[in-house]
Amino acid sequence: MKTRICGTGSALPKRVVKNEDLSKIMDTSDEWIRSRTGIASRHLAVEETLAGLAAKAAAQALEEAEIAAEDLDMILAGTISADRLLPCELQRELGAAKAVAFDINAACSGFLFALQTADAYIRSGQYRNILVVGGEILSKLMDWNDRSTCVLFGDGAGAAVVRPDEAYGILSSVQGSDGARGGVLSCGGRRNNNPYVTNSTALSFVTMDGQAVYKFAVRTVPKAITEAVERAGLTVEDIDLFVLHQANIRIIESVSKRLRVSMERFPTNLSECGNISAGSVPVLLDDVNRRGLLNKGDKVVLAGFGAGLTWGASVLIW
Ligand code: ACO
Repeated sequence: MKTRICGTGSALPKRVVKNEDLSKIMDTSDEWIRSRTGIASRHLAVEETLAGLAAKAAAQALEEAEIAAEDLDMILAGTISADRLLPCELQRELGAAKAVAFDINAACSGFLFALQTADAYIRSGQYRNILVVGGEILSKLMDWNDRSTCVLFGDGAGAAVVRPDEAYGILSSVQGSDGARGGVLSCGGRRNNNPYVTNSTALSFVTMDGQAVYKFAVRTVPKAITEAVERAGLTVEDIDLFVLHQANIRIIESVSKRLRVSMERFPTNLSECGNISAGSVPVLLDDVNRRGLLNKGDKVVLAGFGAGLTWGASVLIW
């Protein structure tokens, strides 16, 4: 039994912010951002909620999969930036009364970890119709006075409906995490007025040692992909498309070089979307799906990596 993606969807906020727009409000430039990251613009949520974006993406995925929200057994949402800290908002938005819903925090690996969790539930026989979502409004976790992080990220959500299938679906998966090195990418928790705790910490934002993250990504991702592909009984040559987390074009180019696979097989949306963290893999997957770049029987690698540190890769027959 395999876990097959039967439908995809995505939603991006209306507001597009170009590098030039950022250079008007902070000391940065289109040239700096574009040459180091490949990002030209990003969508930022102004009025949208994450649950609203996720529900829009989910509706498209459900439509393609020809499943009603009421028939969902489970909803797994990979995110670190939910509108509220408590779960099940998307379930309420969709009216998916029968589903069991919870969120998964694995930062930029959130969609991969949610998909792999769904795969385990499906292979165990416990659930059949699962909605897997990855989405973020990271713009609310950024320090907008820190030009080295806030220019990198964008907001959005992507979704996939998965179901059991005999022939098509996930062939193999690899997951990893390394909390010992987690300090290279960090974001503190929220403060409150607990009278028993002296809380002197300032407001907390995402902080990052960019070069350490770069080194982690270019070493770990090719290894994880190679391992997942070998577990599937394939070679990287057999893979038609590599849908990677969109952190930085230089990371993707390095992975392509290390695997000795042409960049043509690595679709990107980084230029228009920036880094959507848990949203980047499902938003890009929906994009390639809707552009008709995925044919039945194609072999596809999905790979995510990021804070935690965390990483995950799955190999699928589409
Ligand atoms: N505009 C202009 N100058 C800037 C900006 C900016 N937005 N941000 C930083 N700088 C300056 C710095 O202040 C520094 O100036 P200085 O030399 O006078 O001190 C200079 O640019 C170089 O800064 P570095 O941080 O060394 O720049 P680097 O070349 O390493 O590029 C980057 C930074 C793009 C983040 C790079 O380290 C990288 O690609 N890291 C990978 C990590 C990544 O992509 N993270 C995304 C989120 S994590 C994830 O999704 C896995």
